[in-house]
Amino acid sequence: METEKKTQTAAEQMTDRDLSEQIKKVTKESHVRAENTQLMLSFQRGKVTLPQYKLLLCSLYEIYQALEEQLDRNSNHPGVAPIYFPAELARLETIEKDLEYFYGPDWREKIVVPAATKRYCHRLRQIGEENPEFLLAHAYTRYLGDLSGGQVLGRIAQKSMGLKNSEGLSFFAFPGVSSPNLFKQLYRSRMNSVELTEEERNGVLEEAVRAFEFNIQVFDDLQKLLSVTENNLQSCLSQSKPVNAKTLQ
Ligand code: HEM
Repeated sequence: METEKKTQTAAEQMTDRDLSEQIKKVTKESHVRAENTQLMLSFQRGKVTLPQYKLLLCSLYEIYQALEEQLDRNSNHPGVAPIYFPAELARLETIEKDLEYFYGPDWREKIVVPAATKRYCHRLRQIGEENPEFLLAHAYTRYLGDLSGGQVLGRIAQKSMGLKNSEGLSFFAFPGVSSPNLFKQLYRSRMNSVELTEEERNGVLEEAVRAFEFNIQVFDDLQKLLSVTENNLQSCLSQSKPVNAKTLQ
């Protein structure tokens, strides 16, 4: 709590040269596009369905596995160490819990991800090897998003799918973060403390735009996958074909 208080003052002192301000600025337009993907619109309209949410969880599982494995591996890197908060932010175990809730104990065999998710994970592993300071851009995009709009989306998802006691929604809960706003301030001040050359800074900013783009492509691919599944279902039903479990996943 004491650290959170200190950063409140730090937040008031931020300038245009701060990475946290620059990253927000360069990704502003991408954020609007991400918000307006069909999948995110379904969330915002309170129309997210169970198949949509289950499929999203599968992709989030792969993404956070790659992201957190690379953050852990590079936790001592000067571009990663200041923004490394596994106790507060790590999502992999929460997603595993949700997947088990929805798919059952053999959930690992039921994970389905589109090509865009694989490309995103490949990029995370590549920069983890080649430019670990770029991980900051990806951690920012996912974790600060989860602590911002993600909090509202969690409540909407609960209502839309009629889930009780937040079952299947561990992904949205951050028990180690008492105040998302104060934590975001702390996170921004840590981002601003990372020493980067001009070239590295530009690289991080470009990577943040790319990180949003990966997310947009994942959402679009998921939506396509869902419409294919729905069409299959429709044609199975109209032709009185048996509907197998795979069709409904
Ligand atoms: C911040 C809403 C989707 C990443 C925010 C904020 C809101 C918001 C209200 C706080 C803005 C502020 O404090 O100034 C939403 C809604 C979404 C959505 C309603 C979709 C339904 C996304 C997605 C991503 C994302 C898909 C990335 C994958 C971020 C990030 C921030 C943020 C990184 C922090 C910005 C900063 O303070 O630097 N979002 N968001 N958001 N969102 Fe989203």
